Amino acid sequence: MLKRVSNGIIERLEDVTPAVQRAMSDSGNARLRTVMDAFVRHMHAFAREVNLTEPEYDLAIDFLNRIGQTTNDSHNEAILFADAIGFSTLVCLLNNGNAGATETAAALLGPFWRANSPRTENGGFIVRSPTPGAELFVTCEVVDVRGKPLAGVDVDVWQSSPVGLYENQDDTQADMNLRGKFTTDAAGRFSFRSVKPAGYPVPTDGPVGELLRAQNRHPYRPAHIHFLAFKPGHKTLVTQVFVDDDEHLESDVVFGVTRALVGDYRRHDHGEPPAAGIRAPWYTLNYRFVMEAGEAILPKPPIK
Ligand SMILES: [Fe+2]
Repeated sequence: MLKRVSNGIIERLEDVTPAVQRAMSDSGNARLRTVMDAFVRHMHAFAREVNLTEPEYDLAIDFLNRIGQTTNDSHNEAILFADAIGFSTLVCLLNNGNAGATETAAALLGPFWRANSPRTENGGFIVRSPTPGAELFVTCEVVDVRGKPLAGVDVDVWQSSPVGLYENQDDTQADMNLRGKFTTDAAGRFSFRSVKPAGYPVPTDGPVGELLRAQNRHPYRPAHIHFLAFKPGHKTLVTQVFVDDDEHLESDVVFGVTRALVGDYRRHDHGEPPAAGIRAPWYTLNYRFVMEAGEAILPKPPIK
């Protein structure tokens, strides 16, 4: 039986916020009460601070509606919006690396992770259809916070092509091109062959694109490879490793670049290539991931 909470009749502007707080105060879920109380207080304070006009309110409602309408199985405009206002990175840093006190290897998931990437043996290719670009050899190590190698970690890898498109955005790429799932060996290592990713613009044909144009912001992300490391007993590590010579490293449209996540994508012009038939220049990346102890929870894939 729902109780009728008396909010009181609204007599003045100042009555609105406490009336809403009273109406929500009886929620049985304490966390919901805490979150919604703060959300309403801050939203009301925001409207008062900017003196929100009615046309602006209508525009905001239309913006939110179109975020939903633009989202489908292969595109997630809501995540893009959260990313573009730095909210994803803020939440990520709040929840990892001791709430910002220590450096963390965690970064935003982004809108392109797909579940069920093809299982690939260590050292294997994730290039699954012709993808011209500089060869890249990636070797990674996964350790716990004490530096002990972690064996049996499942690691999803996904990246854009050298023209800056994920396979789900590009009909010329095979399904699951530049995606793979690896398992770390007894030394906590996994490795794979790929091509050097390129930076790319986030999709700008929706409401978030309109916002970026209105703010004179470019839509580019610096090139990166995404990683998701999963092992029971450890907090799932979602991260990205950025290409260190990218021109947009310091102006990522979604604020994903932290110091710890700039990789050493080393260019090789001479010497013995790591595999037969490789022409210079090729690149190597060595990176070490640290997994914190915790609960292994997989995020919901943003696209199918
Ligand atoms: Fe990405």
